[in-house]
Amino acid sequence: MTNVLGTKYPLIQGALAQISTPQLVIAVAKAGGLGVLTTAGLTTEQLAEQIDEIRAGTDQPFAVNLMLQQPNIVDMVTYLLAHPVPAVTTSAGSPKRFAQQLQAIGTKVIAVIPNVKVAQKMAALGVDALVAEGMESGGHIGTQTTLSLVQQVINAVDLPVFAAGGIIDAKSVLAMQALGAVGVQVGTAFLTAEETPISDAYKQAVIQAGDTSTVVTGHALGDAVRCLQNSLTAKYFEAEASGADAKVLHGLLDGSLGRAIAGDVEHGTLMAGQIAGMVSRIEPVASIVHRLFPN
Ligand SMILES: Cc1cc2nc3c(=O)[nH]c(=O)nc-3n(C[C@H](O)[C@H](O)[C@H](O)COP(=O)(O)O)c2cc1C
Repeated sequence: MTNVLGTKYPLIQGALAQISTPQLVIAVAKAGGLGVLTTAGLTTEQLAEQIDEIRAGTDQPFAVNLMLQQPNIVDMVTYLLAHPVPAVTTSAGSPKRFAQQLQAIGTKVIAVIPNVKVAQKMAALGVDALVAEGMESGGHIGTQTTLSLVQQVINAVDLPVFAAGGIIDAKSVLAMQALGAVGVQVGTAFLTAEETPISDAYKQAVIQAGDTSTVVTGHALGDAVRCLQNSLTAKYFEAEASGADAKVLHGLLDGSLGRAIAGDVEHGTLMAGQIAGMVSRIEPVASIVHRLFPN
């Protein structure tokens, strides 16, 4: 499978919305993993520039994350069909419309999935690999835990499966490989990399977090998001409990990841997974990759 990715290690740096910009993607590629570029909020012109920036920084493979509900998704895919990248990861929807076209030009299609039903749909589409993402992950999540999900997905489909959610070091990688996963996708552990372009305050909040520091907002909006608890999440739960409508709830959350990235750790959404409790320092990407794959 590492050959399918073309990387030294069977490691995917999960897309981090507005965060996994070329700087992080290049660092991960140089360390032997598959860096995944976030396209959240990008225009197609910006996507093109950022892909050029990655290519100028590394000759190693990388991927582009396509969040399938993005308003300009058709435009972005049209660009990627004309200018092939090594791989795409897809989330928040089905890549049915364009998976085969991308594969026909040599782009690997890796689908991030939250349950067996979606895994089977993706297998029927003929994607190249799956990332089975458990609900302990940071960011937008499903309902199944990594341990239960990974085993059941591996039983259900005949595709290489990467495990995501709660992976932090070589022990957790080995655990996932013991279940039959070919590799792992990691998000939270990369939040505190030196190369990760978020405020020091966000990084310190992840470092301070314990095992129970995360909560899940957005249930009432059908869009569950795991993040660190703070003043914003308290306000959100208060509003949800008092029956506030979707407009009010969106008003609290919209743009809040950007505030966290900029350093407002009380009023921003600090997306992070439950494994944040084991993140203890700011360090280079290469050290994080070495902890996951020491050999
Ligand atoms: C800050 C943050 C932003 C994320 N943004 C995205 C995203 O834009 N697209 C996506 O497919 N997954 C996203 N994820 C999920 C990660 O790619 C990855 O699957 C997840 O973090 C793995 O679980 P872990 O956090 O326990 O390592 C995000 C996760 C975090 C922590």
